[in-house]
Amino acid sequence: MEKFIITGGNRLNGEINISGAKNAAVAIIPAVVLSDDVCTIENIPDIKDVRLMAEILREMGASVEKLDSSTLRIDPTTIKSPVAPAELATGMRASYYLLGALLGKFNRAEVAMPGGCCFGVRPIDQHLKGFSALGATHEITDAIIKVKADKLAGAHVYLDVVSVGATMNLMLAAVKAEGQTIIENSAKEPHIVDLANFLNSMGADIRGAGTDVIKIRGVKHLGGTVYSIIPDQIEAGTYMAAVAGAGGDVLIKNVIPKHLESITAKLREMGVTVTEYDEAVRVQNDGRLNKCNIKTMPHPGFPTDMQPQITAILTMANGTSIINESVWDSRFRYIDELARMGAQISVDGRLAIVEGIDHLKGAPVKAVDLRAGAAMIIAGLIATGTTVIEDIKHIDRGYEHVVEKLSAVGADIKRVQYPDNTMSNAV
Ligand code: EPZ
Repeated sequence: MEKFIITGGNRLNGEINISGAKNAAVAIIPAVVLSDDVCTIENIPDIKDVRLMAEILREMGASVEKLDSSTLRIDPTTIKSPVAPAELATGMRASYYLLGALLGKFNRAEVAMPGGCCFGVRPIDQHLKGFSALGATHEITDAIIKVKADKLAGAHVYLDVVSVGATMNLMLAAVKAEGQTIIENSAKEPHIVDLANFLNSMGADIRGAGTDVIKIRGVKHLGGTVYSIIPDQIEAGTYMAAVAGAGGDVLIKNVIPKHLESITAKLREMGVTVTEYDEAVRVQNDGRLNKCNIKTMPHPGFPTDMQPQITAILTMANGTSIINESVWDSRFRYIDELARMGAQISVDGRLAIVEGIDHLKGAPVKAVDLRAGAAMIIAGLIATGTTVIEDIKHIDRGYEHVVEKLSAVGADIKRVQYPDNTMSNAV
């Protein structure tokens, strides 16, 4: 087992390079299944979820070759069966993209119910409603979802909730369907646009991605491509929050500043200086943060995937902040961990009231999910004393080289094996 040990209090100075976007990569890799030729994908983050998705494709018969640390060459033409290996698919949420991709390719798919972070109920009714509009039927037996269609035909689909996963899955299923599909009330996240751009680079005809109406004209054939994934908005936002909380001056490189606007706006409200460049943002702070209220919303609103990290820095702000989580039912499980470090937070349903205190104190804590784990890292960086984070497997699902990136800007963070002498001395 591995843990992170962080000694807090260091200011952060220097540069951090942002990796490719996890939530784009985990959709684009399964999307390769739709191609009749080899695809090369660049700027792939080296994280657990990506390695798992690549392994799933390999198990299904694809050839997946790592050309360098961030480039995969995938030949999907040797995949002959639309059945995903259940034991691997349950390991991640995004395995549900195989439903849309395999359905689009073979008119049939069998994928185990997805795993991933636990934020309460995570339904996939909108995905299934969309598949059904395209002409597919589904059944769920023994936690395996089976979808099939005699033929997929374009349809008009109105999503009842704005769902990233349902929007992407429908794009995947509709891209080779006969005729036009219109997805209304679609999600607008940057990774939706990235998936559409990737599919278009293979020969698809998708318009409107990034707005709330996406139009897809089915094509008969999708070919090979070389495509580079967008930078990770949430990884960048996480480091922006870390610098804002710990203080310092860091240039965060390989980002699309437009994707970070809601995060930038909130950090500025807290008194942080954020300067935007073409492909970088510079974050500077040397004072106590102002209190700030946050409401998470689908893009372009404030991302729910940044909610825990922002809450972590507001624990030491000047005044009381209100956090309203409007996307997920239950995304405050990490608050108990912050409380172990002295944070004064009360939770009432989807609201958290964060009373700013002078300092957090290092403690043994757990990463209860991916972004909760990122929040614990930030809390450890801004606390006095030593924080030990357990269950870092969640963090490794989504952050590439987090220890190396933070150490390079002056953080005191180590990954240790447990049991380990360093550990018993540290706690
Ligand atoms: C994606 O999850 C991300 N995961 C999540 O990021 C992110 O929190 C979420 O979008 C919202 O931005 C990936 O991209 C792999 P949704 P997804 O469908 O697609 C409800 C991270 O930390 N809903 O947009 O599963 C649902 O309950 C991860 O990187 C339905 O009701 O989220 C939720 O309240 C964690 N029916 C809301 O919609 C459905 O069929 C948004 O969910 C689907 C969703």
